[in-house]
Amino acid sequence: MITATTQERQQQKNTAQYSHKYALQRELKNKTAKVGVIGLGYVGLPTACHYASKGYTVTGFDVSETKVESLNSGINYINDVDNDGLRDLINQKRFTATTDMKQLGDMNVLLICVPTPVNKLKEPDISYVRDVGNIVAEHANEGTMVILESTTYPGTTEEYICTPLTDRGYVIGENLFVAYSPERIDPGNKSFNLSNTPKVIGGMTETCTDLACKFIGSTAHRVKGVRVAELSKIFENTFRWINMALVNEMTVLCNELEIDIWETINAASSKPYGFMKFTPGIGVGGHCIPVDPYYLLYKAKEHGHRTKMIELAGDINDGMVHYSYNRILELLAANDKLMKHSHIVVLGATYKSDIGDLRESPVVRLLERLQNKVRNLTVIEPYAKGIRINEQVLQVEKYDAAILQKADLVVIGTPHNCFDWKSVHDHASLIFDSKNVMEENGLLSDKVIKL
Ligand SMILES: NC(=O)c1ccc[n+]([C@@H]2O[C@H](COP(=O)([O-])OP(=O)(O)OC[C@H]3O[C@@H](n4cnc5c(N)ncnc54)[C@H](O)[C@@H]3O)[C@@H](O)[C@H]2O)c1
Repeated sequence: MITATTQERQQQKNTAQYSHKYALQRELKNKTAKVGVIGLGYVGLPTACHYASKGYTVTGFDVSETKVESLNSGINYINDVDNDGLRDLINQKRFTATTDMKQLGDMNVLLICVPTPVNKLKEPDISYVRDVGNIVAEHANEGTMVILESTTYPGTTEEYICTPLTDRGYVIGENLFVAYSPERIDPGNKSFNLSNTPKVIGGMTETCTDLACKFIGSTAHRVKGVRVAELSKIFENTFRWINMALVNEMTVLCNELEIDIWETINAASSKPYGFMKFTPGIGVGGHCIPVDPYYLLYKAKEHGHRTKMIELAGDINDGMVHYSYNRILELLAANDKLMKHSHIVVLGATYKSDIGDLRESPVVRLLERLQNKVRNLTVIEPYAKGIRINEQVLQVEKYDAAILQKADLVVIGTPHNCFDWKSVHDHASLIFDSKNVMEENGLLSDKVIKL
């Protein structure tokens, strides 16, 4: 039976919860909630612009003075963000950037978009999330909603966001709200963006989930808790990682069997159900796909469990750089050329087409292997100023047909849409095409060798 004091305590609890909940609901409904986005990179900056365009007043927080100064003067550094749109948001004071973390205390909603990389041993580096969790706990005020968006293993939100808050006396779901909602931004994707991609949300309590769903709006996909939300994102990317490994393994096999992998993939893709098309490459790059599965692997190991498919996929995908390097060696040899006497030109080095992100790019790893083995190595990369390779910065060149004409071999690394494939074909004497762009552009000939 509930005693009077317990009843009173319950009542106080309900009042506190309801007053904070309704206050935030009101702010969200009226778009008067102040939104803070922590980490203004590939995810944080488009996210900040998205909510500012929806009518919220957004403050972006970053530790990088350079990024903050650049944004406040209207200079954008992320391809997916519209330059004029960003300038308008800044001029209308809908968006400002700062390094002053004390201002976190003025925010009603905080979105955390800091990096979650792996170290050289492919172990999760959770330090960015941990640091931000502590800073948020130091500055946040009652009634704030904190949503972690960085990709991470299940349990992170509880350990690194909630614990520092509860240590300071906050009661999650009553006087402060916490949820996890992974970001699905796909840089360079022209069809899907923050406005039309469903967003998974799991809160620490029902109230947390309700409030987070209200904030996200019509794209919200509600799940029962933070752990499902955390795992769902890693599962999505592990699915891609494993399928990429399968098609990469098939590619190596097809080379042995002298069967065209690209035609094989197109044939299998003609099935209107049950098959999903993945294409091979020099490897798998970016801040997500080759990183996120290792977060899951780490968590599994902690529980004494082995995730064999992730490990195997890692071996296969990482092995594609070595495979590509050997194919290049063989190709030069078949044309009576020695690698050490050759001039190789690599077209495109970012981890995917039409963006400037070099993180984890397999083409960069191939360049590392080629650098001291060839007479001359030229990289043509319109989206980067320089590439750090083996502790040195390799200068990149603009596209120039004359450079291709002098090369012994042109390697198509990352096929940006701005490249003129006809010109590449006409000026190169030998082409190693890792993405089958020559055939796709009707330019297949004896001098084109496919991955
Ligand atoms: N890049 C993508 O395509 C993508 C897509 C979906 C999800 N994600 C996930 O989103 C998260 C962010 O990735 P990203 O690509 O935007 O990273 P990023 O490196 O581009 O940006 C992170 C930003 O956080 C800032 N930062 C670091 N520590 C900080 C701190 N203590 N306080 C404030 N700012 C800090 C950095 O200066 C940087 O500007 C990661 O977990 C990533 O896995 C990325």
